[in-house]
Amino acid sequence: MARPKIALIGAGQIGGTLAHLVALKELGDVVLFDIADGTPQGKALDIAEAGPAGPFDATLKGTTDYADIAGADVCIVTAGVPRKPGMSRDDLLGINLKVMKSVGEGIAANAPNAFVICITNPLDAMVWALREFSGLPHEKVCGMAGVLDSARFRHFLATEFEVSMKDVTAFVLGGHGDTMVPLTRYSTVAGIPLPDLVDMGWTTQEKLDAIVQRTRDGGAEIVGLLGNGSAFYAPATSAIEMAESYLKDQKRVLPCAAYVEGAYGLDGFYVGVPTVIGKGGVERVVNIKLAKDEQAMFDKSVDAVKGLVKACKEIDGTLA
Ligand code: APR
Repeated sequence: MARPKIALIGAGQIGGTLAHLVALKELGDVVLFDIADGTPQGKALDIAEAGPAGPFDATLKGTTDYADIAGADVCIVTAGVPRKPGMSRDDLLGINLKVMKSVGEGIAANAPNAFVICITNPLDAMVWALREFSGLPHEKVCGMAGVLDSARFRHFLATEFEVSMKDVTAFVLGGHGDTMVPLTRYSTVAGIPLPDLVDMGWTTQEKLDAIVQRTRDGGAEIVGLLGNGSAFYAPATSAIEMAESYLKDQKRVLPCAAYVEGAYGLDGFYVGVPTVIGKGGVERVVNIKLAKDEQAMFDKSVDAVKGLVKACKEIDGTLA
């Protein structure tokens, strides 16, 4: 049986890391696409040459021609520019919106049956715009944010509790920005909710609040440390988890930026919610009941995303 074809649109820091992970995990063959001629070809060849030592079997091709992504099963989009210190994700809106237009058209023309995962920021607005520009079904276009945000939350929690990350689950909802909503009530260590762990003396409410804030600022912390780009290892690993769930029909329950119609009081909008990802793409949105304060935080986050979508429509009249 032919190996799945995985197209990576954008061969920068995240794109290159994605290609390496796809090859190491033998998820399929890789096409790396970028407009910077030489970069995708160089990275594809470098990773292909790692195959014998890996060892792994995968073919990798670098290209500047959209025709090469023809028939891709999965497209992961990182094309665009990342943040510099002092910039918010929202500062990237104007430039990355133009990139989403060309990427959306390229995917529609060459890989209309693909499952598309957008990583480009500001994520919730970009995934919406990418869906609009590509015209693909909503369930086949989603954004990677929640898996990353909850992975950061889980990492900080596991470190605080000195337990395996594998036993820490966490939910982060809402937009991928300062208003994201880490849900402590639905986050657990081996099934024990965080508020109970505070009662048990495992941590204090103050420490937990600080971890929640660090999670919200997780991307900015890396941007500040790197000085010349944004995070790429954790974002790439998170998107691979989503792609694998689709390719292997695992039906993992993963938070991602999905099109929500009906649930959470939303009427057709992209925002971070728990979903089930399987061979149909985003097969289900898990509609969990939120407490009053949680709903208020979620609504605030949705409002922030709505503001970005409005700005997209003002920049590009065809989206209105
Ligand atoms: N089509 C294809 N590729 C493009 C386009 C385009 N129109 N415009 C830019 N690119 C490419 C760049 O040439 C570069 O190789 O996108 C790549 C982006 O790579 P990096 O600058 O290394 O950025 P990266 O760290 O990978 O982040 C990419 O993901 O998390 C988000 O905020 C981040 O929006 C940023 C994106």
